[in-house]
Amino acid sequence: MIPKLEGTLIFGGDYNPEQWPESVWHEDMRLMRQAGVNLVSVGIFSWARIQPNADTFDFAWLDTVMALLSETGIRACLATATASPPAWLIRKDPSVLPLNREGRTLYPGSRQHYSPCSGAYRKAATRLVEAIAERYAHHPALAAWHVNNEYACHMTECHGEETTNAFRLWLKERYGNLDALNFAWGTQFWSQVYSDWEEIYTPREAPYFTNPTQQLDYRRFMSDAFLELFLMEKAILRRITPDTPVTTNLLGLVPQLDYNQWAKEVDFVAWDNYPDPVDIEAGCLKHAIGNDLQRSLGDGAPYVLMEQATSAVNWRDVNMPKPPGLMRLWSYQTLARGGDGIMYFQWRASVAGTEKYHSAMVPHVGAERSRVYREVADLGNELTRLKPIAGSRVCAQAAILFDWDNWWSLSIDSRPAQLDYPAAVEDVHEWFYQQNIAVDIVAPTSDLTRYSVVVAPHLYMLDDAVAGNLTAFVEQGGALLVTPFSAIVDRYDHVQPGGYGAKLKEVLGLWVEEWCPYPEGRGNAMQIEEENLSFACHSWAEVVHTTTAIPLARFADDYFAGSAALTVNHLGAGCAYYLATIPERAGLDVVLRKVVTEAAGLRPLLLVPQGVEVSLREGPRATFLFLLNHTLESVHIDLKNYHGRDLLSDRVVAGGMNLDPWQVAIIQLAPAPSDGQNPE
Ligand code: GAL
Repeated sequence: MIPKLEGTLIFGGDYNPEQWPESVWHEDMRLMRQAGVNLVSVGIFSWARIQPNADTFDFAWLDTVMALLSETGIRACLATATASPPAWLIRKDPSVLPLNREGRTLYPGSRQHYSPCSGAYRKAATRLVEAIAERYAHHPALAAWHVNNEYACHMTECHGEETTNAFRLWLKERYGNLDALNFAWGTQFWSQVYSDWEEIYTPREAPYFTNPTQQLDYRRFMSDAFLELFLMEKAILRRITPDTPVTTNLLGLVPQLDYNQWAKEVDFVAWDNYPDPVDIEAGCLKHAIGNDLQRSLGDGAPYVLMEQATSAVNWRDVNMPKPPGLMRLWSYQTLARGGDGIMYFQWRASVAGTEKYHSAMVPHVGAERSRVYREVADLGNELTRLKPIAGSRVCAQAAILFDWDNWWSLSIDSRPAQLDYPAAVEDVHEWFYQQNIAVDIVAPTSDLTRYSVVVAPHLYMLDDAVAGNLTAFVEQGGALLVTPFSAIVDRYDHVQPGGYGAKLKEVLGLWVEEWCPYPEGRGNAMQIEEENLSFACHSWAEVVHTTTAIPLARFADDYFAGSAALTVNHLGAGCAYYLATIPERAGLDVVLRKVVTEAAGLRPLLLVPQGVEVSLREGPRATFLFLLNHTLESVHIDLKNYHGRDLLSDRVVAGGMNLDPWQVAIIQLAPAPSDGQNPE
């Protein structure tokens, strides 16, 4: 339940009026109206202003801001303001502060200086959230709640006493007794056996690698601890405002939190993204995969890009501005991939503090003299033409599996090599993106029956439920591609002996005897004899024994030359491919073409010049074709049978059309003639 703003798209940004005198707020309202703003995230870091000391709440200023917003016709995604605890709270109760793995305290003076397990923090946050929620429960400006801010963005770990106790409790709940924990953690190794819960610590700095299952459980626990904190606030908000949607801003493909769990708890998905304009192509890919992830997290429902930069950020070593037109193009990318809201950090550029050199909707130079503000206002006004797309959805028939547990376990030390899991996912995603074939990014336990093809990169950690899900998917006619170092361990990170990949043995028709990771500069080659093709393979190769699988490519080098590098196994109505190596890009392209195009029959939406993004959003009343020219050339697009009205230019298009550099078209497709109502 995304906030309904008269069925329109959401447009706005973080609004921090506490940094400004009241006279500026009036000017803000005028400019917001002029720029087409309809939603602002208010007061995310305003705890100290709302509650200047333990005994005082000061809502007068926020009352004025909320009233001004309401009069201007702008709604508030009102923050619970818990992201940066005030100095008085820390002084009163320093136990709020987190301790890092070296045992050092993280002091105030920045933000996010709280431990998610601190009782004092939770108590103070509860009081604050209750006060804010009660104050504004019935306010006409209130549209949604913005809880905290980017959980675990900076502060990812805590090893203090309360956290250690909470970790012990979490383990008790998970394992029930110490025998189960000792078994799960494999504590006979290196004499790590525990005979009392009090003997267990979070994985603090130690002489050498700490127990991998302990590390893994700690990451699960930290994700849960932050989620518990979110749920604590959400419960208060639900009780006081049962009908107001609650969300928090997620990040993209980041390791801190298991967003597959988090997404179940937010009322609508919102995320922040700051691609670096230094490399526009890479930025565009990063934005594409991030958007696809957010859409998938919300099970296809429209989501909000809650923060992006209008131009430069301030936190890289070198912070380049977005050149004119790029912010608009990347904003449309969000809409093209299923988003319904474009927002920024922040409304007005600060003049003091760490982020004063971060771009904003209203830059230091002032609104009217700034090209950035002009671009923002133009976009805001343009979006009012796009009302019809609100609520429509991108429907993908392909999925890439992504699992945070798997990521955490792959990135623990003491592995055969450090396989870059997100990079592998990004490589596969990039192929789909370049092909203009819509793809979701989903948890391995999700319902896969809606897809015709599923790619599972490095699914190292795999339990019976996931193996069953993948097997059923293939049996029912799906095409599956699994890439190497998959099905090696269970959820405890225990190896399943007797041949690697045992849980997928039936569906893949093979087992793996050993692997061979390659250092930089070494590698193998994968030959597809039938097609007379050969591709270099870097980082990884495996010695595969087929049972029912058919080899499609073989290794050219090393002691296992001639053994299978790519296989296919037919099972039930579907087929499962196994890629036992990491080939160069062209090799991966060939493999994906075999699986996605040839086996599953998925085709690009349109054949367009390279660098043109194409997507389709389907709504109950209309379908929309998005065309985005990411290149610096004008391109001609052959529209084939697609025709309709371009909502941006308000022109009817059919046959073909030209798109200037960085230009966008959103074509509301005319219903097929068989509907008997072709409007053209
Ligand atoms: C986000 C954060 C904002 C602001 C922004 C700057 O991570 O939520 O408050 O700091 O970064 O890029």
